[in-house]
Amino acid sequence: MKIFLDTASLKEIREAAALGLVDGVTTNPSLLAKESGEPEEILVEICKTVDGPISAEVVATDAEGMVREGHHWASLHKNIVVKCPCTAEGLKATRVLSSEGHRVNMTLVFSPSQALLTAKAGASFVSPFVGRLDDISTPGMELVADILQIYRNYSFRCEVLAASLRHPLHVVEAAKAGAHIGTMPMSVFQSLLKHPLTDIGLKRFLDDWEKAKKELGAKAPR
Ligand code: E4P
Repeated sequence: MKIFLDTASLKEIREAAALGLVDGVTTNPSLLAKESGEPEEILVEICKTVDGPISAEVVATDAEGMVREGHHWASLHKNIVVKCPCTAEGLKATRVLSSEGHRVNMTLVFSPSQALLTAKAGASFVSPFVGRLDDISTPGMELVADILQIYRNYSFRCEVLAASLRHPLHVVEAAKAGAHIGTMPMSVFQSLLKHPLTDIGLKRFLDDWEKAKKELGAKAPR
């Protein structure tokens, strides 16, 4: 599964990218609004930091406006993927943008039927929002599994980008379901690695090694 970071923070992206495990980045208007600086400059810097798909979302609500904004985002860097909301206008814009060769990430997807239309419109990525469904007592991961099944049935090439992942178990479940990509905030990315037994085990190995070295050192001839 490819790992995307769901943030517009360059500090976080640089830190995570240093591990060599970040395959792409998703941003949205809320995430960009949290950062200081011009969105265009931030997006270009992100593209320079991570060589993979970088989602930039349109804010127009009509298809024409979305296409215009999509052209603007796409002109910034070859890695930019235009993010459109899953509305009737968003589907129209996706058709236009994808037929021109631009990659589209359809966002705010909450049902299998929306995902079916997304693939038919030619989107390259579909973003089911797992956490936001869980928030309203609807099992978000079932949506990921349903979309994967539908896309497999018809060999759609649209990649399933599990989004709104809020904790490490969401990532594991998305991977078990076979999602192509999981996008997550930095805190979730960091929690994927953490295990107390790893820390305890490493400390014990190092302590034993130091102890043995001291004992050997004491016995060793001068
Ligand atoms: C994905 O592209 C979205 O930016 C994101 O995953 C939304 O997550 P949230 O529901 O935690 O805000």
